Formats: sequence, C-alpha cells, structure tokens
Amino acid sequence: MKKYSKRIEKLKPSGIRELFDQVGPETVNLGIGEPDYQTPEYIKKAGIRAINDGYTTYTPNKGLPTLRKAITNYLTKYDIKTNPERIIVTSGASEALHLATQTYINNGDHVLIPDPGFVSYRPLTKIAGGKPKPLPLKPQDNFKINPETLKEKITQKTKVLFLNSPSNPTGAINNPKDIKATTEIAKDHNITIISDEVYSEIIYEDKHTSPAKYNPNIITINGMSKTYAMTGWRIGYITAPKQDINQMLKIHQYIQACAPSISQKAAATALNKDTKFIQKTIEKLKQKRNLIYEGLKNTEIKLNKPEGSFYAYPDTSKKGTDKQVTKKLLENNIITIPGRNFGTQKTNQNHIRISYATNKKDLKKFIKTIQKI
Ligand SMILES: Cc1ncc(COP(=O)(O)O)c(C=O)c1O
Repeated sequence: MKKYSKRIEKLKPSGIRELFDQVGPETVNLGIGEPDYQTPEYIKKAGIRAINDGYTTYTPNKGLPTLRKAITNYLTKYDIKTNPERIIVTSGASEALHLATQTYINNGDHVLIPDPGFVSYRPLTKIAGGKPKPLPLKPQDNFKINPETLKEKITQKTKVLFLNSPSNPTGAINNPKDIKATTEIAKDHNITIISDEVYSEIIYEDKHTSPAKYNPNIITINGMSKTYAMTGWRIGYITAPKQDINQMLKIHQYIQACAPSISQKAAATALNKDTKFIQKTIEKLKQKRNLIYEGLKNTEIKLNKPEGSFYAYPDTSKKGTDKQVTKKLLENNIITIPGRNFGTQKTNQNHIRISYATNKKDLKKFIKTIQKI
C-alpha cells in the first residue's frame, strides 16, 4: 500500500477543474478564469523572436534583468517603490503564492483568507502547514474588506492575511481608505499581508490601489496572465523586502530554477511597449459587465455591480442552492461555479460565480436561462 503524506492526502482536488471535464462543443463555459481573447500579436512575435534568437536556456533564478527592470518601472504606476533585486519572476502568480505561503507560514499558524476568495489560498496554506481562517466578506459590504470585521478575526496566532483586490470571485474592489486601515491593523499585530493583484488592470471606474503604497513590507504578487491574456505563458512575479526575497529565492531555486525564458522575453516586450491593448480590452469587458448587470437587474437574481476583474457573483438563492442552480444550468449546457468553492461561509451557497470574459451571445443565453430555471 502506498503511503502518502497526510497533508497532501487530506487535500481536496479543485472543484472547478472537475466541472471542465463536462465541456462539450455546444457548452457555454462561464466557469473558466481566463479571458476569451488571445495574447496580442506583438507579444506572440516577441516569443517567436526569443526562440529564434536562442533564448532557450536557463535565465538567472530571479529572472531576466530586463524583465525585472520593466516590472520595477511598471509598479511605480501603483506607487510601489521596488528594484530588480527585490523581484522574483515566477511561473505564474500561482508559483508566487506558493513561495509566499512557504516563506511566512509555520506549522499551526493562522492565516486569514478572504471568504469568498480565490480557490488556491486555502490549499496553499494547508500545504504550508498553516490553518486557514475565514475573513468574512459580506454581501452587505459589497464583498469589500471591512477593517472592523478584520479586527474581530485577529487572534494571537494570526500570522498572515491574504488580500485580493480586484477580487476573484466577486469583482469587488477594496476602498483606499479601508486598504490603508487594513495595512495599519496588520502592522500593529505583526501580520504579513500577501496582496494578490493579478487583476490590477481590470478595473472599470476606479484606479487600482496597492496596499504596498502604504507599507513597503507588504508582499505584492502580480502577473501577465490576466492583463495580457497570457495564461499559458506562465509568468508572474513577487516583490517584497530584500531579506524576504532572499528567503523565497531558496524555494524558487529548488522547485523551479527559473520561469520560462521565452515567456520572460515576451513579457518584457509586453511591459515595455505601450499599446492600446489594455485600454481596448477593458472597454470590451466593461460592455460585457454592463450586459450582465443590466440583464439581471430587476430580476430575482441579485447582483452587486462588479467593479473589476471579469467575474460576477450573483445571489441566486431564489432559484435554489448554488449546487442546484449550477446543476440546472449545466442541464442547459451552461457551466458556472457553485459559490461554496470559494469559501466556508454559508452565504456562498446562495451564490454562483460566472466569468463574463466571453462572447455576448453566451452571456445573453445565461441571462435568459437563469430566469427560467
Ligand atoms: C486571484 C488569482 N490569483 C492568482 C491566479 C493565478 O494566476 P497565474 O495564471 O498567474 O498563475 C489567479 C488565476 O485565476 C487568480 O484568479
């Protein structure tokens, strides 16, 4: 009999991936967390050029200096002052999250996780030996962080707090005032903030606020996947104080060596060349956000207006539990994700997540179908 580690054996596989096994040619897939548009041509060409120019070997562990320089410049946009020595280029933001959890979490440490929140935070915390503790984000707060709730949830054992704004799965954006208050509370209690900002560009009305703007000790994670439609290229990055990066680098060296060299070249081109790609993309996504929001307004389905990312998290409780609703939608060939995948709060069972970065025809089908199930 094989003996697996208890830590890993107890871990549940992703509920989201399971659903995708059901995708057929006619299926409307509102489940997947990636844009339906392609990596821009100029970035693809940079990748091809990198291969032809022989960039097919390992890069420095931290990543190509040109890319880290480009990231440093890019982050000034959010008032983050860093430098190439304080950046590790990772294989997607996913690896950056892994580096951070392994670096800060000791066995038994409590880790506050936005609930609802991105599906990886809980399992990564457990893999690191920590204990995930929900930080409830409430529908009545429009799923934004509430510093008062945060204070109530902090204990002697709280070591780490995850933040994710704009949010997956709710599309909520935390207010600058609350972000500032959160950074101060964390500082007072000696809590490390890991801020996942992979949707920082995908904001419709406001401007993104990075918590690191208020405290340089905050760990910032971002990446190329969502902004530039580069999910398959696997480029993310993490910036933190120099001594923290030195700790993380040890893990990165042993598990990864470096992020893919060809993708790094393409990412540097993406960041260095100012095209109107992002602006045009946001404009298109905003139309889709409006379509979903207006389409569900005045129906039995309640939806807070999503302000960023490309997800909506409607309350579908009038139609049944999250599981019942997603099942009925699936019977109509539409994939959505039950809210319970995003947290342990009971209220998640009243919600489903849809990704609206898809074509308008499919979104209209969803709006029509959800009303008649
Ligand atoms: C909030 C959040 N963080 C991180 C990731 C991982 O992104 P990457 O493709 O860069 O690994 C995702 C992907 O869905 C995400 O939604």
